[in-house]
Amino acid sequence: MLPLSLLLVTPFSPSILSGNSCFTDSFLGNYGDGDATMSVLSVTSQDCMDLWSSDLDAGHYYAPTHEPGRQLIWLEKASVDERLGSSDLEAFFGSLSTSEYGQEEGQEVMQEPESASAYGLHYYTENAALVSIDAEKAQVIDTLLPPFWKSRLLPASPVAYIPVPENAAAAVRSVLENLKFDPVVASLVGNISVSQIQKDIRFLTGEDESSGIISRHSFSSGALTAANWLKEQVEGTGATCRLSPFITGFAPNVICRYESIKETTGTVLISGHYDSRGSFGSTRAPGGDDDGSGTVGVLSIARTIGRKGIKFHSNVEIAFFAGEEQGLLGSRAYARELRAADANLTLMIQADMTAYRAPGEPLQLGLPDRIGTPEASQLVANISAIYSPELHVGITPACCSDHQSFHEQGFAATQVFERAGPIADPMYHNSGDLSDREGYDFDQLFAIAKVQFASVLHTAGFEL
Ligand SMILES: *[C@@H]1O[C@H](CO)[C@@H](O)[C@H](O)[C@H]1NC(C)=O
Ligand SMILES: *[C@@H]1O[C@H](CO)[C@@H](O)[C@H](O)[C@H]1NC(C)=O
Ligand SMILES: *[C@@H]1O[C@H](CO)[C@@H](O)[C@H](O)[C@H]1NC(C)=O
Ligand SMILES: [Zn+2]
Repeated sequence: MLPLSLLLVTPFSPSILSGNSCFTDSFLGNYGDGDATMSVLSVTSQDCMDLWSSDLDAGHYYAPTHEPGRQLIWLEKASVDERLGSSDLEAFFGSLSTSEYGQEEGQEVMQEPESASAYGLHYYTENAALVSIDAEKAQVIDTLLPPFWKSRLLPASPVAYIPVPENAAAAVRSVLENLKFDPVVASLVGNISVSQIQKDIRFLTGEDESSGIISRHSFSSGALTAANWLKEQVEGTGATCRLSPFITGFAPNVICRYESIKETTGTVLISGHYDSRGSFGSTRAPGGDDDGSGTVGVLSIARTIGRKGIKFHSNVEIAFFAGEEQGLLGSRAYARELRAADANLTLMIQADMTAYRAPGEPLQLGLPDRIGTPEASQLVANISAIYSPELHVGITPACCSDHQSFHEQGFAATQVFERAGPIADPMYHNSGDLSDREGYDFDQLFAIAKVQFASVLHTAGFEL
């Protein structure tokens, strides 16, 4: 007899997770494997097991789950441009444990290693792996990974997968259908201050030493400094802000809100993640591009809202998430909180990495090719053509920032990114990710912030 409670890794297919499927309540998340999106499912019934054996392709992988003190982690290679080179997990696995388990790539793993210091390898391809490791080590795993590899902590128990409903997509389409150039919007987005952005980013990276920030890693004191500072800056623009802790030990999310002047539950959310990552073995994590750029872009929008005294016809929220680098943890908590409250979030736009421009390339705006709400991305693309025509708009395989958390809770969501292609920033997840360096382009950061701001103004509606 097959053991129950197995992990199934299978290509994402909305139909597997929909309605009456036996997998509906077994979803542990969608994760990247090269160009593919894989779902991890925790299968607990014999019926599901039979369905899996008979209906789904062979060659998926499974292993026992639910071990005390262990944490499941998805590791994936970020989509990076060839010129940055590549890295694999060999040394990483070596650092976790000296013992070898003789597992070959692509091999099914039925047995867990017994030792608590060891790791379990459940799925392993060139671009991804599913491992279980000691829970404490899991929290700092991003500091152990080789360049270009990202980690995502799996939830302890299955979560709901909620597709974006047709009426939510239709609401975004209707904003797009009514979209036309508005000179007031153009003048407001043009009022974003680039010189202030240049100051703000230096505070967050610690290039301005008076901030005292060495790192904004989610467990660092610099992250707390940044969170308090962001809260104070946005409160100064007329918003109400709170620090919202989500997991003990992690720096909190910063959630700010401008109340609508009309009676409505409708809410538009823009965000970035303020936590950062550095090079292996270094505590320095300035995160100038990732994601200082998205963070100061969103902050520049808040400053302009305050300076111009903008009043909105929908509620507008500004969020700075933490725990992004450990697997979208802060945004996952907030998206679930909004879903549980049945929030009327009509559009969410995450800015993650907007400043880097490779030599010789034009200013660009990349929109997600797989995870995100197509209607939201189309709206952003058309708004870009109107208010930031200097940007070349295209799609990017660089995947997935905090918008994924909202998209998978049934909210229309997308991301703005710096390139219509894979990541090209040589300082990605590197202790050299400063703002004062070649390729860090404030014109592009500004152009993308204008697009994010214009999207809020057109979607929420406003007056002065
Ligand atoms: C969005 O932009 C595209 C490309 O310019 C255009 O073809 C399309 O008509 C626009 N959509 C709307 C609803 O304006
Ligand atoms: C923004 O508008 C204010 C007036 O409301 C003006 O004083 C300021 O110079 C403008 N800033 C930019 C960067 O355009
Ligand atoms: C949600 O907000 C939108 C925009 O303000 C509004 O048109 C819609 O009626 C609201 N939906 C609900 C269920 O209140
Ligand atoms: Zn990021």
